[in-house]
Parts: sequence; structure tokens; C-alpha cells
Amino acid sequence: MTERFSGRTAVVTGGGSGIGLATVRRLASEGARVVVGDIDAGPGKAAADEVGGLFVQTDVTSPEQVEALFGAAVDTYGSVDVAFNNAGISPPDDDSILDTGLEPGGGCRRST
Ligand SMILES: NC(=O)c1ccc[n+]([C@@H]2O[C@H](COP(=O)([O-])OP(=O)(O)OC[C@H]3O[C@@H](n4cnc5c(N)ncnc54)[C@H](O)[C@@H]3O)[C@@H](O)[C@H]2O)c1
Repeated sequence: MTERFSGRTAVVTGGGSGIGLATVRRLASEGARVVVGDIDAGPGKAAADEVGGLFVQTDVTSPEQVEALFGAAVDTYGSVDVAFNNAGISPPDDDSILDTGLEPGGGCRRST
């Protein structure tokens, strides 16, 4: 690998499985320090341990837990350089990422 992410810190949500886990492994193989956020502590911690990273149990539907995830990344490694927001929710009335608010249940923040 080319170490393209050497010295960088990457946060991956849903990093315990599937696309997220593959991304955790790839970013680590490219030199990144990886912080795994996952709602499921078993596979999430296993993924972080596999790459010598940090696991923070996180439900991405909770703004407070997401803030804690990124805060832990900064506190531990000093920065967040890459954010792979892989675990996500798709409210029924979702329109665009630019219009989607933080509120659970599909609350949208529209500027018009
Ligand atoms: N696999 C596909 O073909 C495909 C296609 C389009 C979109 N996606 C999207 O990509 C993302 C990953 O897909 P995947 O196939 O790797 O899924 P997966 O089920 O293999 O992995 C999802 C991971 O996210 C975690 N997770 C679930 N809810 C969470 C929450 N609220 N907070 C934090 N972590 C949570 C799970 O514990 C799991 O580790 C999903 O958002 C999925 O909808 C997948």
C-alpha cells in the first residue's frame, strides 16, 4: 500500500461490518489512525482492535453520541482528517442531504 493516509485520522461510522469494515481495513492499510463508531459494540470493537484503532460505541441517530465520537477522535489523535459517514438513516421524506435536519423521524430544515 502507498501509505496515502499516514498521519491522518479517519472516523468510520458503521465500521463493524460490510462496507464500513472494509473501509476501516483499507484506511488502516494506507496508514490512517482509525476511529470506529458503531452501535454494536462486539463487531465495532473487534474492527478497531484489528487495526490498532479506537472504538466508540455510537448510535448515529443521536447527535450527542456523534459529537462524542468525533470528540474522542480529536482527544485521542488530535484531529479528524477523514469522515466516512457510512452508517446513516434515510427519513421517508428525505430530499437532499443539504435539506435534511438533525431531528429523528424525518424532520427537514428547509431554507425556502
Ligand atoms: N451493501 C449495499 O449494497 C448498499 C447499497 C447502498 C447503500 N448501502 C448503505 O451503506 C451502508 C452500509 O451498508 P452495509 O451493507 O455495509 O451494511 P452492514 O449491515 O453490513 O453494516 C452496517 C453497520 O452499521 C452499524 N449500524 C447500524 N445502525 C447504526 C447506527 N444507528 N449507528 C451506528 N452504527 C450503526 C451496524 O452495526 C453495522 O456494523 C448502509 O447505510 C447501507 O444502507 C449499502
